[in-house]
Amino acid sequence: MRLDKFLADNTELTRSLAKRELKAGAITCDGVVINDPGFKVSDDTDVCWYGETVGAINTRYLMLHKPKEYLCSNIDELYPSVLQLIGLPRTDTLRIAGRLDVDTTGLVLLSEDGQWCHRITSPNFHCSKTYLVQLAEPLVADAEAQLHAGVELHGDGLTRPATLERLSDTEVRITIIEGKYHQVKRMFAALGNKVVGLHREQVGAIALDPELAVGDWRYLSADEIALFQ
Ligand code: URA
Repeated sequence: MRLDKFLADNTELTRSLAKRELKAGAITCDGVVINDPGFKVSDDTDVCWYGETVGAINTRYLMLHKPKEYLCSNIDELYPSVLQLIGLPRTDTLRIAGRLDVDTTGLVLLSEDGQWCHRITSPNFHCSKTYLVQLAEPLVADAEAQLHAGVELHGDGLTRPATLERLSDTEVRITIIEGKYHQVKRMFAALGNKVVGLHREQVGAIALDPELAVGDWRYLSADEIALFQ
């Protein structure tokens, strides 16, 4: 979304007043002053107006148990957006803190708090993500060592050390501290295997609530919110 529209949607500023504020240097995106009204804001951009995060008033923090065939996107495309599952007003202001593929299930965190989402998604904060993985083939014997040393992802360099727990020949739990595009699938492809099922169990210290049925959501507790503040 354009920055001037984002400001008009999330503050009392009209689009033309937002442009004036931009020109005056009052707006930062992820800590950098932005003057361009057409600057593209993504879900995890932290937009501030005179140092105050925009959209942080009445901020909501949620966890969702994502089903397959829903998109981690704010708009419906080939599949419906996960926001369709949240029967609250103004779901368009929620940011998705770390996207899952359309065929991945499990824990998705959402909030209007850009800084909070940024601490989950930015590689600088090393937030861990744990996935349960079903594989097409038995895993190679030296997978632990390869994943610890890092595997080469075409165009994205070497992955950071990941930890692996073997549950069976074809089922593992992996924890990574970054979130590159299709990262887990590409890591196992680099080991000559194929991911046939992927489920996110945990983000940092927030675990998917076992009481949440697929497609359901709940508000986070104050303790859970504080983990990324
Ligand atoms: N890694 C993937 O490959 N897909 C996801 O949905 C999440 C992590």
